[in-house]
Amino acid sequence: MKSGKRLFVNKDSSGPIGVFDSGIGGLSVLRALRERLPAEDFLYLGDTARLPYGTRGDETIVRYSLECATYLVNRGAKAVVAACNTASSIAGDVLQRELPVPFVGMVEPSVSMVERLPSVKSLWILGTEGTVRSGAYEKLLRDRLPFNTRIEAKACPLFVPLAEEGLSSGGICESIVSYYLSSVKEECPDALLLACTHYPMLASTISKYMGSATQVLDGSVAVAGEVADILEDRGLLRMALAKNNGSLTCLVTDAAPRVHVLAQRFLCESVLTVENISLDSKKNGPSAEFS
Ligand code: DGL
Repeated sequence: MKSGKRLFVNKDSSGPIGVFDSGIGGLSVLRALRERLPAEDFLYLGDTARLPYGTRGDETIVRYSLECATYLVNRGAKAVVAACNTASSIAGDVLQRELPVPFVGMVEPSVSMVERLPSVKSLWILGTEGTVRSGAYEKLLRDRLPFNTRIEAKACPLFVPLAEEGLSSGGICESIVSYYLSSVKEECPDALLLACTHYPMLASTISKYMGSATQVLDGSVAVAGEVADILEDRGLLRMALAKNNGSLTCLVTDAAPRVHVLAQRFLCESVLTVENISLDSKKNGPSAEFS
């Protein structure tokens, strides 16, 4: 971090885990995190005022991601999770390098999950335009999987509004799934990786459409496992409390009424309070300095 304001950095296990996404979709990842780490407090930040990230340019995505992550560190987060595939794919390296607390994105744990599966000889990655353009998943998968594995990627942007509208099954959903995936289905891949926070909401329709020969994969549980491992390694787990009563604070940059409905849909628990915050880049941007 360059010069600017000095920010507080929490280096003990009592702090919350900071989780951010471009919006509310990252709550699907938070669900897995809360299941895996029930004693932990979570601070979730959805950048709802600037959603979507998936169609934006790289510089904007890096700047927004740094602003979200820095805000969370400044609120005492002991670790930061980018529960957004676009932010993880495009800003993951910068966040890893710049943040003064442990950072986990979506890409590495999801790729490790695929690597552990037996006999995946062909795989399609489904994500936003930004995730696909970055090539982040393909690069890591090519490094880790046998050289003759077929790895392809496809952007399916309409899956995001479908999931937000709650249209995860039925005729409209089926025809959009078929619109994007008919050419993929012809190739009968061994696996599809749902590399977008919203796509797991459509998993059963996608799975039914693709047929039983194609596994449909979601990296959320692997991300939660990676966060648990990293916190344990660094002595940051709240094991001492050993109570399953971790709190959840939900922050958004635009608190439109639909946020509550979407939160319920993605998290499968109601979020009682949502705090509306402003990401002031002078305080939280890349020029901030941690201490
Ligand atoms: N959260 C984004 C992701 O996982 C999807 C929504 C967006 O485009 O911002 O890539």
